[in-house]
Order: sequence, then C-alpha cells, then structure tokens
Amino acid sequence: MGWKSFCRDSVTLRILNLDDLPPIEFREAPIVDAALVVGRIGRHESQLFASEQGDDFDGFSPQRKAEYASGRRSAHEAIKLLSGMPAAVKRKGRRPEWPVGYCGSISHSHEIALAMVASRSVCLGVGLDVVKKNAVSEKVGARIMSTAERRFSSVYTESDWRAIVFSAKESVYKAVHPEIGEFLEFRDVEITLDGSDQIFTATTVEERPSSSAVHSGIGFITDFEDHWLTLFLV
Ligand SMILES: CC(C)(COP(=O)(O)OP(=O)(O)OC[C@H]1O[C@@H](n2cnc3c(N)ncnc32)[C@H](O)[C@@H]1OP(=O)(O)O)[C@@H](O)C(=O)NCCC(=O)NCCS
Repeated sequence: MGWKSFCRDSVTLRILNLDDLPPIEFREAPIVDAALVVGRIGRHESQLFASEQGDDFDGFSPQRKAEYASGRRSAHEAIKLLSGMPAAVKRKGRRPEWPVGYCGSISHSHEIALAMVASRSVCLGVGLDVVKKNAVSEKVGARIMSTAERRFSSVYTESDWRAIVFSAKESVYKAVHPEIGEFLEFRDVEITLDGSDQIFTATTVEERPSSSAVHSGIGFITDFEDHWLTLFLV
C-alpha cells in the first residue's frame, strides 16, 4: 500500500494505491483537495456497509458483486483520507449517494476499481472513468463522437483517442448528472484537448440545463495499467 500527493500552493490530490498496482501518475495534476484511490477487483463484499447492500445486491452476478464491492472499498478509503473515517456510499438507482459535504465518483473495469472523493467546498461534482485501451471500436467511436471529435488530430492514435473521448464523456456525465439530473447522450457533449494532451474541456452542442456546469469543468487524462483514466471536476 502506498500513497502519493501532488501539491501545488497547498492544494493536494492524494492518491492511494490499495494493492500491488503501479502508482497513478498525472503529468498535469488536478489542483484540488481530493482523494483518488485504486485497488484490484476482488472479493471485498465483507467490507460493504449494510446500507450499501440494498434489496437487489443478492441478485448481482459474482463479477458484478466483486466490481461493486471493490468500487465501494476504494470509495471508503477515499472518504477516510479526507475525513479520517470511512463512510457508507448508498445509492439511488445506480447513482452513488455521497456522505453529506462530499462529492465523488466510482469506476471499475474487470480488473481495477477506483474512486475519487472531494469536499463540496472545493467541487460541485467529480467524474471518474476508466476504459480499457482498444475497448472502443471504430463502430462505437462513430456513434459516440461528433464530426469535429473524429477529425481532431492529436498525439493519440485513433484507437486511443476514441477510448479517451468515450471515457471523458462518461466522466463529464458522472460529474454533472448527480447535480443537474439531466440525462446526456454521448453526442450531446463535445470534448476538446485544452492546449495539452492531458487536459480537456467539454461543451454541450446545444444550450441545455447542464451547459454551464459542463462548460465550467476541467478534465484530466492519464493512462494506467492498459486503461485510459479520465477525471472531470466541476
Ligand atoms: C452510468 C454510466 C456513466 C456508468 O459508466 P460505466 O462505464 O458503465 O461504468 P463505470 O464502471 O465506469 O462506472 C460505474 C459507476 O458509475 C456510478 N454511476 C452510475 N450512475 C451514475 C450517475 N447517474 N451519475 C454518477 N455516477 C453514476 C456508479 O457508482 C457505478 O458503479 P456501481 O454501480 O458499482 O456503484 C453509464 O453506464 C451510462 O449510463 N452512460 C450513459 C450516459 C453517458 O455516459 N453519457 C455521456 C454523455 S456526457
């Protein structure tokens, strides 16, 4: 277990690694007092709070149980880093409900589970997403990307750029949806790199309830264990 801090002007992103994974490194570190925790997917059901189990938990498949419990395990550790005590993250439908005073986000692949949590005094919303590199086919890319995004020329290969755009849009949705409550289709939002290949901004293609929240946010990209990882902070 190891943790690492990025600190600029006393504002810190604390990163905690629960298992035998390499460190998560951001070339451009988010300047925010928040905690980001990563661990491997495993049988962590015993670490769930009773209030996190709900009626449908018993019907989850073994893989879904492991992903859900591993995401909650990372979330508990992130809350503990900020507040000193782990706390339950209940859910409304699928959307996580963070302890009062905090916002956060959870993402998992079949292999890893991550959570990021911040105090609501520094962020209105946090979105976090991981996607396996090469997971987004040309067909899916064509469905989720705008013409401008598809034409965008960057340092990334086409396949990497598709996965980054997919992940970035999910991060935007996770950061904004809990606050605004609006469903956003992939084509409702456009992603642009912002003068750096590791920072992005987002806009809505039409004016809508989520527009100002989406426009006010900033996103970060890094790669980790054969995944693209994106964060979006509002
Ligand atoms: C909800 C959704 C974003 C989850 O993403 P995913 O890639 O399928 O899965 P991830 O592992 O990355 O994230 C899953 C976690 O997201 C969180 N989540 C689910 N719904 C959420 C919501 N409405 N808002 C914020 N977080 C949400 C949950 O914590 C969930 O994990 P859990 O069920 O174990 O608690 C996705 O399934 C979805 O519905 N997307 C459509 C909307 C969208 O992304 N639009 C993009 C345009 S901006």
